[in-house]
Amino acid sequence: MQVIDNQYSIQGVNPVELCQQYGSPLYVYDGGTIRRKVQELQDAFAGVKMKIKYACKANTNLAVLRLMRELGVELDVVSPGEFAMGRRVGYEGHQITFTPSGVPYHEVSTAVEEGATVNVDSLPLLEWFGQTYGNSKPCLIRLKPNVAAGGNIKIMTAHTDSKFGISVALLDKVIATVQKYNIKVVGLHQHTGSDIKEAEPFLRAASVIFEAAMQFPDLEVIDMGGGFKVSYHPEDTLTDMKTLGQQITAGFKDFCARYGRELELWFEPGKFLVSESGHLLVTATVLKDDPARFFVHVDSGLNHLIRPMMYGSYHHILNVSNPEGEKRTYTVVGYICETDTFATDRELPEVRPGDVLAFLNAGAYGFTMSSNYNARVRPAEVLIDNGQARLVRRRETLDDLLRTQEELL
Ligand SMILES: Cc1ncc(COP(=O)(O)O)c(C=O)c1O
Repeated sequence: MQVIDNQYSIQGVNPVELCQQYGSPLYVYDGGTIRRKVQELQDAFAGVKMKIKYACKANTNLAVLRLMRELGVELDVVSPGEFAMGRRVGYEGHQITFTPSGVPYHEVSTAVEEGATVNVDSLPLLEWFGQTYGNSKPCLIRLKPNVAAGGNIKIMTAHTDSKFGISVALLDKVIATVQKYNIKVVGLHQHTGSDIKEAEPFLRAASVIFEAAMQFPDLEVIDMGGGFKVSYHPEDTLTDMKTLGQQITAGFKDFCARYGRELELWFEPGKFLVSESGHLLVTATVLKDDPARFFVHVDSGLNHLIRPMMYGSYHHILNVSNPEGEKRTYTVVGYICETDTFATDRELPEVRPGDVLAFLNAGAYGFTMSSNYNARVRPAEVLIDNGQARLVRRRETLDDLLRTQEELL
């Protein structure tokens, strides 16, 4: 979002006018930002055979998936629903990896039979995979390197207590199962978690994976998951993707030399590719000058953006209707019958009822984590690309809320 002549603009489109046209609240994505982020990652890893597998749990709007496909980005999915969405926008099965977390095996077989590569995440699944496919289908194995990284326990996924992946401590059992069924292991996978801005935690996790890799002679891929941090707060240091790329590339090349072959390096970023592209536009409803805090209620809540309440995430807020207003301190809250605080004691230009506020960095885990709690409909979504704003999901209606209910009269 830029300021041009004292007005906020996304690719020349005024966010207040978007709310007038499409209603509020509204998710708006800037396709230009997605293009830039993909390019940034590709440039950072130009020195190795790198593939991006977009972790589409971050944002499954079909227009976003289509844009990813256009940009040559492949897909990482975690459910049959995400898999179907990928197929719907034209991805071939073989361009999709399926990274399950304790799912029923029939979900795995459906994906595998459509050509996807599965990241096997447990010993029982590995046993089943061997019994079912023997050597006929390739797979990756998701290892848990027992590395804590990123700082927020709620979004760490590779520490000792995490449910994800097979602990490296069980490597002997993994190898025994692979040998028992002659399983075709073409890659090792790990995902350290979110909010990683330095190479060090990646390299720490990678060194565990590289050591394990020496025991798998037929690897083609090392998949290092996602987790690159984006800056939420204006004072956050930006992830220096160029330096990160150089450091990880050097570590990976060194490993490939020891392994004896140049492998592909895969990443599964979600947040890094789409977070900054997204804005949740909401409208101020009621201002409550309480003795303790000055509350601004908005026409949204944790039903539309749960990250602040779920993870304590910071989302920067702009008053796009009144950018020049006098600064005051507000606590921005939603309309849901739960505590749904978006921001406490935040300085904003004067907020008046009817003003449009923009929550920044809402492109990842925003709409995809939304719900119908309090029988509230989900917002519409707009994609702005090449200077043109297009509705890419209509707002839900009351009929949508009632559609799946059986009325026992
Ligand atoms: C296996 C896996 N890969 C990739 C990601 C994407 O993470 P991020 O959005 O932090 O890049 C996740 C996030 O939960 C994940 O679980």
